[in-house]
Amino acid sequence: MNIVVVKNQEEAAEKALELVKAGLEKGSIKTLGLATGSTPLKLYEKMRGANLDCSDVATVNLDEYVGLAPNDPQSYNHYMKTELFDHVKFKETHLPNGVAENLQEECERYEAVLSENPVDLQVLGIGTNAHIGFNEPGTSFDTKTHVVELTESTIESNKVHFEKVEDVPTHAISMGIASIMEAKEIVLLAFGEAKAEAVKQMVNGPVNEGCPASVLQNHANVTIIIDEAAASKL
Ligand code: F6R
Repeated sequence: MNIVVVKNQEEAAEKALELVKAGLEKGSIKTLGLATGSTPLKLYEKMRGANLDCSDVATVNLDEYVGLAPNDPQSYNHYMKTELFDHVKFKETHLPNGVAENLQEECERYEAVLSENPVDLQVLGIGTNAHIGFNEPGTSFDTKTHVVELTESTIESNKVHFEKVEDVPTHAISMGIASIMEAKEIVLLAFGEAKAEAVKQMVNGPVNEGCPASVLQNHANVTIIIDEAAASKL
């Protein structure tokens, strides 16, 4: 793992943008894997201002809440549209459909999308319980795209984005750990003291399913860009 400690989110976003830009310029990024949540917001802000040519690039997102339609303001589809897709033109953009009639079929459809669009660079955040995507502790490292029940700690962390905790969806469709590990390159961003323990376990802990992000120790090309607070337990 290549670990880069930076002063703040601004600097982290600059560094992540450099990776994205370099891949676009070389033509090595044909599919970009994207995340939502607060972590990549600065990166997306910088991508919006960077005059990138993504017209030949497809995107795939990690996850979507079950029960939220793509136009629901709390959905990840809506988040991606407002933060990035309305501003940067991509060839195609893909997210799971959280209101698909048959969720199992939707997971299979999404896996087929991933097979057709193998991820060249995947952007990741990390949960305070070390989840990646919505793969909560205990998820098998072999999982492909699947429906997950969110843990209480994840619901608690995500409630800031909703009016009340009861509004936070209890399930999501998420790329699995095996799907994420297929990306050729991964860049994981983490900020703040609340992420310090998860970062420590991801980097120095044993590789096991109790700590989903620890699987990244087995990936050949991972860059972790973190601020000093998130790095404070390393
Ligand atoms: C989001 C995702 C999650 C988040 C993680 C951190 O698409 O897959 O794993 O990256 O929950 O969330 P934030 O960035 O809000 O701290």
